[in-house]
Amino acid sequence: MSVERTLSMIKPDATRRNITGKVIDRLETAGLRVVAQRRIQLTKERAEEFYGVHKERPFFKDLVSFMTSGPIVVQVLEGDNAIALNREVMGATNPAEAAEGTIRKEFAESIEANSVHGSDGPDTASQEISFFFSSDEIVG
Ligand code: CMP
Repeated sequence: MSVERTLSMIKPDATRRNITGKVIDRLETAGLRVVAQRRIQLTKERAEEFYGVHKERPFFKDLVSFMTSGPIVVQVLEGDNAIALNREVMGATNPAEAAEGTIRKEFAESIEANSVHGSDGPDTASQEISFFFSSDEIVG
């Protein structure tokens, strides 16, 4: 196993319900360490840039609108196999398909308001981490 870092976002549906601590508890209990964290309000431009890979998808406009509808918490998580581990702890994108015990099964409201985002691979993780954090903001 190798120590990895991954980008995590706690989405507006979770900040609105004041459950960021509950989400972070799930991450930490699973063995992930929060090595950088900031609560921010995404602008439309930044949300469109972050989700640029999805810009041709039918849900893109609604996704940007949702992600700018309230504050989010951006984090860098570190741990053994952190990228896959975080995806396992989050559960499937669609909460209707998420396994028992996962964050999305327990907290997500819909496929759009699905409480958390996590990088899907090593290249995306490094791109997404540098989208939000400089190296001196990450303290392992
Ligand atoms: P996330 O992991 O942040 O990456 C893209 C997001 O688009 C995804 O989580 C969902 O919240 C959102 N989304 C909305 N509708 C869909 C859909 N039909 N298929 C996949 N993702 C969707």
